[in-house]
Amino acid sequence: MVVKQELLYQGKAKKLFKTEDPATLLVEYLDQATALNGARKDEIAGKAALNNQITALIFERLNEKGINSHFIKKMSKNEQLVERLKIFPLEVVVRNYSAGSFAKRLGFDEGVPLAFPVLEFYFKDDHLDDPFINEDHIKILKLADEKEVAEIKKQANAINQALIELFKEIGIRLIDFKIELGKRADGTILLADEITPDTCRLWDEQTNEHLDKDVYRRNLGELVPVYQEVLERLTKKN
Ligand code: ADP
Ligand code: TMP
Repeated sequence: MVVKQELLYQGKAKKLFKTEDPATLLVEYLDQATALNGARKDEIAGKAALNNQITALIFERLNEKGINSHFIKKMSKNEQLVERLKIFPLEVVVRNYSAGSFAKRLGFDEGVPLAFPVLEFYFKDDHLDDPFINEDHIKILKLADEKEVAEIKKQANAINQALIELFKEIGIRLIDFKIELGKRADGTILLADEITPDTCRLWDEQTNEHLDKDVYRRNLGELVPVYQEVLERLTKKN
């Protein structure tokens, strides 16, 4: 049995609770969407349950493809049990097509295929607004050592290939995504956090319709039906 204990952390999209087992955490997804690092915030009924199911399904699929993660088990509508890790304070972004901040900063149109997956690091620090950083910055700030950075890059590329395949099967083009990774006490590095339409750009292969949080960020329409569509496609594939 898993016993939900005290709140450890309240984030923008999830709450983390301790359990009776110090090696695990209970993650509760929230009916909340934010943009601009929390400056814009809205309550969206149903989002938590959708993201909890979507990320559980994706972590299970990745596991079948030989990619391990912190995910242990979905516990309830809005909750899942995960392995507690020491998270690297890094947001690792992988891009297959130009979009978002990449397109804006580098003067690309959105949707241009990139010749190879472009990997970027951001320093996970809300007070600094998650700045874009390079490997020297990671070293100077001691966010991860060189071996760990090499392993993080290797895993990010493998996760990208697996996700491209997984989404292609359901008619979705994976434009880009953000992941977080963490470390076990023995130093093993594992995929953590979430993989949902909050953290990926997902475009319908035929219509280029946005099936992700850009519908909220850019006021393109309702978020729930779009996330529902992603969940239905993932579920039908089962
Ligand atoms: P934010 O912190 O950006 O507001 P969330 O609301 O998604 O984001 O909060 C979830 C927090 O849980 C993040 O800070 C993330 O790094 C952390 N986290 C995710 N997976 C794990 C894990 N397995 N062990 C410990 N912390 C985790
Ligand atoms: P960006 O184009 O805004 O840099 O975003 C790249 C990808 O990372 C996109 O799929 C959205 C995701 N992302 C997050 O999950 N969290 C964030 O805080 C940011 C900035 C982006």
